[in-house]
Amino acid sequence: MDDINLGFTPGDGIVVTGAGSGIGRAVALRAHAAGLRVSGWDLRPDGLEDLAGQGIHTAVCDVADAPARAAALHATEQALGGVPRYLVNNAGPSSQVPLDFEEAVRISVGSVRGLTQDWLDAGTPTGAAMVVTASVAGNKVGTESDWYSASKAAVMGYVRHLAAHKADQIRANGIGPGMTDTPRLAGFAQSEMGHHILGRVPLKRMGTPEEMAWPILFLLSPLASYVNGVFLPIDGGWTVTQ
Ligand SMILES: NC(=O)c1ccc[n+]([C@@H]2O[C@H](COP(=O)([O-])OP(=O)(O)OC[C@H]3O[C@@H](n4cnc5c(N)ncnc54)[C@H](O)[C@@H]3O)[C@@H](O)[C@H]2O)c1
Repeated sequence: MDDINLGFTPGDGIVVTGAGSGIGRAVALRAHAAGLRVSGWDLRPDGLEDLAGQGIHTAVCDVADAPARAAALHATEQALGGVPRYLVNNAGPSSQVPLDFEEAVRISVGSVRGLTQDWLDAGTPTGAAMVVTASVAGNKVGTESDWYSASKAAVMGYVRHLAAHKADQIRANGIGPGMTDTPRLAGFAQSEMGHHILGRVPLKRMGTPEEMAWPILFLLSPLASYVNGVFLPIDGGWTVTQ
């Protein structure tokens, strides 16, 4: 499917956070194959080595750390030859991690707002677009983790702010993955809870990282030029059956 033309201008820049694994990695690889200049950022260097080996610019960066974010954006501008046209705010902690509520919101929501603001301040090019990886959690269903549901709803609130008040600079949209087969959910499909939940998903399986990457790239692309402020669930129909 690498020859699918989403209308991107080859050489345009894109930053993908959390690119070392899962959904972010799939977006980085698909964007690279689509001819975009990709900068993949991650907290952990190990997942980035493989991307760097394929000619993708990488930055080790904790997106919750404001100075680290600024440094990574500066390095990305140097490497890509200007402010990237596209931003994928994908990084975020797993709902399984026990976190203090306020700290979790700072990490999950503050990082999305902070990086987006840095990028806007840098002077986004015409036709710029941002997609955030939210979740059906918080936007369609509630999770056991209080901070996860609250944070995923909050990032969509921020997307709606951007869509309404920053449309002179960017389009902003969000996706809501359902159960997605990434390392953080390793073994889920085989577990008792996995059988229970996936049994109620009309498509009867988890989504793949690629099945999240394509809609993200579509929402960024010029083909989606009139799509602004939407939340797109990608969950195999799970939430419409609830
Ligand atoms: N897997 C799912 O079922 C699912 C469902 C709904 C939403 N999501 C969301 O999708 C996004 C990606 O998750 P995934 O499933 O691909 O997970 P993953 O664990 O496979 O990958 C996440 C990557 O983000 C990086 N990361 C985490 N915090 C970071 C930070 N502060 N700065 C920089 N990098 C950081 C990790 O090191 C990791 O490489 C997350 O926002 C997650 O909440 C996932």
